[in-house]
Amino acid sequence: MAAKKVLIGGGTGFVGTRTNKLLRASNYNVVNISRMPAANNISWTSLEASGLPSNTCAVVNLAGQQFMDFTKIWTPGFKQNVLNSRVFTTRALATAINKSKNKPKVFVLVTGVGAYEPSETNKYDESSPSTGNDFFSKLLVEWEKAAYVDPPVRLVIIRSGVVLGREGGMIKNMILPFFFGLGGPIASGKQFLPWIHIEDLTRLIQFAIENQEVKGILNGVAPQVITNVDFTKAFAKALSRPAFFTVPEFVLNILLHKERAMMLTKGQHVTPKRTLEYGFQFKYPNIDAACAECAHLFSKY
Ligand SMILES: NC(=O)c1ccc[n+]([C@@H]2O[C@H](COP(=O)([O-])OP(=O)(O)OC[C@H]3O[C@@H](n4cnc5c(N)ncnc54)[C@H](OP(=O)(O)O)[C@@H]3O)[C@@H](O)[C@H]2O)c1
Repeated sequence: MAAKKVLIGGGTGFVGTRTNKLLRASNYNVVNISRMPAANNISWTSLEASGLPSNTCAVVNLAGQQFMDFTKIWTPGFKQNVLNSRVFTTRALATAINKSKNKPKVFVLVTGVGAYEPSETNKYDESSPSTGNDFFSKLLVEWEKAAYVDPPVRLVIIRSGVVLGREGGMIKNMILPFFFGLGGPIASGKQFLPWIHIEDLTRLIQFAIENQEVKGILNGVAPQVITNVDFTKAFAKALSRPAFFTVPEFVLNILLHKERAMMLTKGQHVTPKRTLEYGFQFKYPNIDAACAECAHLFSKY
């Protein structure tokens, strides 16, 4: 029997590369949509011109300009790129799905917990409204709206916390300072840090593809709610290093711009209520085990 085909927008990135590996190991045929040509890649232009590749059974979108790219200044043009790269790619995929004759079963979009307004007191699950007035909450509303697909295609939106994995995201940025004993909490350290291990996020994407009853919003966060200080202690312990160097909020506001720095200095208390109700089992439900897996200087992948 021919392998089932999954089309992944942004499948070349940190989460995409590991999703490719997991799905291929489960005998899927994975095609990525990328701005760069390569074997197994198609372009966004070809998606628009020719629609979905034939026999696509699932579509996933992981595309988006990294907003924590510290080489990029937080200008209006860069913010527009952060937004367009998410909203336009999501809309292009939803349009291709809606136009296709032989429809895929499911569209999985990975967004973020930025949907929930940062707070030290509010508690959020998937039924909580996206109430925020900041740039990221507004972006999330537009991004998720762009994903609308006509039934019977299932739409699953995974609102991911910070993804912990050695090859990308926060761990890649922090491994060297922590390794040299220069790590420490960010700002007060009391802000919540919704997180998920990369292996659990990729497993959750596969779970959403394969379980026909799964639809709607799923919080892609581990069940253990932690603060930035809890993360700092767990990561430093996993590396056997001290972590006393607090990074003050005002320094990040100056270096990154206050609007972007809030992704580090503010947080949300988020739980994966629906994700657990559907029966998903986390391989890394607690931060000590997740950090122990990521805390090595060289990548295993
Ligand atoms: N990593 C995290 O901690 C985290 C947390 C929550 C949510 N998320 C979300 O999960 C998704 C995947 O994250 P990731 O960490 O894997 O990101 P990533 O490593 O930066 O990969 C994203 C991919 O998007 C594509 N891309 C970048 N800029 C683009 C642009 N201007 N237009 C079109 N495509 C563009 C790139 O593919 P090509 O270069 O091949 O075109 C890239 O491989 C993102 O939407 C991110 O916002 C990530």
